This record gives sequence, C-alpha cells and structure tokens, in this order.
Amino acid sequence: MLDPSSFIKESIEEIKKTIKDEKAIIALSGGVDSSVASVLVSKAIGENLTAVFVDHGLLREGEADYVQNTFHDRLNLKYIDASSEFLGKLQGVEDPEEKRKIIGEVFIRVFEREAEKVGAKFLVQGTIAPDWIESQGNIKSHHNVALPHGMVLELVEPIRELYKDEVRIVGAEIGLPTEMVNRQPYPGPGLAVRVAGELTEDKIRICRQANAIVEEEVQKEGLDKTLWQYFAVLTNTKVTGVKGDIRDYGYLVVLRMVESLDAMTADVPELPWNMVKTISRRITAEIPEVTHVSLSVSDKPPSTIELA
Ligand code: XMP
Repeated sequence: MLDPSSFIKESIEEIKKTIKDEKAIIALSGGVDSSVASVLVSKAIGENLTAVFVDHGLLREGEADYVQNTFHDRLNLKYIDASSEFLGKLQGVEDPEEKRKIIGEVFIRVFEREAEKVGAKFLVQGTIAPDWIESQGNIKSHHNVALPHGMVLELVEPIRELYKDEVRIVGAEIGLPTEMVNRQPYPGPGLAVRVAGELTEDKIRICRQANAIVEEEVQKEGLDKTLWQYFAVLTNTKVTGVKGDIRDYGYLVVLRMVESLDAMTADVPELPWNMVKTISRRITAEIPEVTHVSLSVSDKPPSTIELA
C-alpha cells in the first residue's frame, strides 16, 4: 500500500538531489498526472521549475482560466496562447492521425522555444506506470531527450511508478483540490479528437459548447465520480431536423460516456434516461447548428473510447 506522505517526502529529496540548482520545465496540461508531477517538483525546487501551459485553441470551455486559477499560487506558471499557430497548421486537415501528428509537432516546437528561454536542463514529465508498462516495457527513468532543434534535456519522471488511483491519492495529500485530482482524463490534442473532419472555428465552438453541457449535466447527476470519461463528439454528418416548425439541416452530435479502469477496455453503463434526454434537449436548444443527438452504446473493444 502506498503511503502518500512518505512517497512525497522521499520524492522531494530525490528530485532535489537530481536537479540541484538547475532549471527544469514541465508541460502542464491541467490533467491529474502533469499537475501532480508539477506540484511535487515545485515543492522540491520552487521557482526553478517552470510549468508551461500551452493553449492550442482546442481546450474545453473555461479550461485556461481553471488551470490558471488552480495553479497560479502553487507553481511558477507560464501560460502560452499558441492557438493561431496550431489552428493555422491544422487548416484543411481531415485525417485524425494527421491532426494528432501536427498537434504533437507544433506542441514540441512551442515547448522547445520556452525551454530555451528558461535555460532548462531537465524535462519533468507526468509519466505514470501504465504509460510505459503497456508501451515500451521497462525503459530506464533517467535518460536524455533530444528536442527537434537539438536541445537535450534530462528526463525526470517523479510519478512513473504510480498507477492512476495512487496519483490521485498523492495529489490529494499534496494539497490539490479534490475535484482536480478526480478530473476525467482529457486527451492532449483536446477537442481535435472530438471533432470529425476538418477543424474550423465554428466546429470547435460547437463541440466545446456541447461538451460543456455534457460535463455540467453529468456532474449534476454525480456521475463524474464513477464515469471514466464523458464527452460529446461533433460528427461530420448532417441530418434533417425540425426546429420551430421549420425544417433544418444540422450536425449530428454523439454522446459517449464510459466506465473504465485504465482505458484499455471500457464499458458503456446504463445511464439515467432523464440525464441523457436533458443533455439532448439542451444541446439541440442551445446550439443552433445541431439538429440531432445520439448516444453511443459500444464498448471497447471493438470500439475505441474516442471516435476521431
Ligand atoms: P482510445 O480512443 O484509444 O483512447 O480508446 C484511450 C484513452 O486515450 C485517450 N486518447 C488520447 N490521449 N492523446 C492523448 O493524450 C491522444 O491522441 C489520444 N487519443 C485517445 C482517450 O481519451 C482515452 O482516455
């Protein structure tokens, strides 16, 4: 059983010994893992850690404010609005993997720029056990990472031996707000994986609005504590509807709500029908471009959690 207070004490000692008086940098996504890793390292080296929060223009509603409000007095936080750089490169791109690749490349470019400004020697990452156990096997923790322009940083992964539930326990012990440590996982490319086809400002806005409604209603129902992820996908399909006695032709939105332990498999549970209907009614009423909402009932496998 993990003892969070000794874990924190020992980690802080080890981080101090490793980083000493050098500068370190972390990409803070606002997710649980990078948040816990940031706060842990900040407790060890203070202002010498710069936590960079990159706004790629694909964030959930209110996310930039949420992250800044939560961390401004806990971290040496740097907010970078790189949305036009990301969205410019994504123009006309439809393929989901291509979108992910572009987002990854732009992200590294933006991040490297900041690492150079800071003069960072160390790169902190919120890698957790399933990330490396399921991907590459047991690669060693302290190795070097070369960034595209040639900058070489030494990797520090303070929570790499922990599983998600343990990260949450450590996060609570280290003083992060309860609802922050219990947040649903949110993919790095953000709304890009929830908008089918080309990303336009309108489609991103529609998807963002639909997701805000889903989050609000799921939280009202208290299901945010048991669902692994809950979100809305803006499909590229347009369907006929009728709004205010007038035929309309608008988008189809798909609701996806799953239970899971580690995202390797996922189940769609029975959901409160009232909540599903409320979400559907609200999305079609509050977002003029949407005429139809459907509910995904497919488990993983054979489906994946994300649709795009
Ligand atoms: P799938 O769709 O493969 O998703 O069943 C499994 C888990 O991974 C998340 N996911 C991503 N996370 N970048 C991320 O950081 C991505 O490109 C990405 N694609 C999927 C997904 O939200 C789920 O938790």
